[in-house]
Amino acid sequence: MSLPNNRAPYLAVCIRDPRNELVGPECENLTGGSPDSFGIARCQSIVRVPAACYIRYGLKWIAEASSLGELVSMVQAAELDADGFRVELVRLSKRLEIDRWEAMRRVADAIPSDPNMKSPKCRFLILSRENWWCLGEIITEQTHDYRIHDQKPHRTSSSLPSQLARALINLVVPGAKSIVDPCSGVGSVLLEACALNVACSGSDYNRRMVGMSRKNIQHFSYGASVSFADARELNTEADAVFTDLPYGMKLMISESDVRRILDRSIRCAPTALFVAGSDISSWLTSAGYNRVSVYRVPKQTGFMRYVHRAERN
Ligand SMILES: C[S@@+](CC[C@H](N)C(=O)[O-])C[C@H]1O[C@@H](n2cnc3c(N)ncnc32)[C@H](O)[C@@H]1O
Repeated sequence: MSLPNNRAPYLAVCIRDPRNELVGPECENLTGGSPDSFGIARCQSIVRVPAACYIRYGLKWIAEASSLGELVSMVQAAELDADGFRVELVRLSKRLEIDRWEAMRRVADAIPSDPNMKSPKCRFLILSRENWWCLGEIITEQTHDYRIHDQKPHRTSSSLPSQLARALINLVVPGAKSIVDPCSGVGSVLLEACALNVACSGSDYNRRMVGMSRKNIQHFSYGASVSFADARELNTEADAVFTDLPYGMKLMISESDVRRILDRSIRCAPTALFVAGSDISSWLTSAGYNRVSVYRVPKQTGFMRYVHRAERN
């Protein structure tokens, strides 16, 4: 099937969670495409989907139509050569009443090759909603590889969950080739950066945290260095500063200390990611940052994290 003019060759299928404002930015940064309200992004690249937190599949576009019948005709005409295939289906709208098995069977019957339901060599995915039926080939999918870091030997109540730490790193890679985390705690961010082969270093002014993060990094045989240092004196240069600021009941930090950390950070890296317990975008602007975006990410406890992404120029 030939691609209409100017049409992106790939589709990213994202999770749909309206409360999580990171889903769209992660997809945009990793694929170059913005998900629509159904979680589908047309994009130029899907190579980074395996590292994603919120993108389920990367598909190669094959055909799309306004009805199942029309899609089946298009698939028939395409004469897909796909020995050992399987057809799967994602229903994007609850309002669309369909018989999933019937829809999958009709599309499968339009493919001239032999299917293999148990161990397919090739997987097709039907995306369906009212007046829109699309078929793509699953080229890649998320691996949830960050979950291994949930087994890190040391953690505290303020540690970032590995999925969130990865989602945040995904907002700055592959642009950022090096990351510094001056409030690195037990090293959750460093573990994700290491897994993605991004050069990184961390520091903390709590010696216990420095010890725990070093052990966590060693546990996974990664190579990041962590030092004992005060973020208010940060002087390590990198492509991006990532700081999960102290917030919550147990970790208090004064406004003037946060502002000092921002003042140091902007000198050290052109891109910044700051996680805080409230919206501090006006402080970032005062520190000299431009293009400040704020994303809210709810915690299970009802508490909200505010993720700030900012650029120096
Ligand atoms: C929210 S925790 C970071 C948690 C970390 N992202 C993790 O997953 O473990 C904030 C950390 O900032 C550290 N911290 C607070 N003020 C600091 C400062 N001025 N310099 C360096 N570290 C600081 C605390 O010791 C704490 O470990």
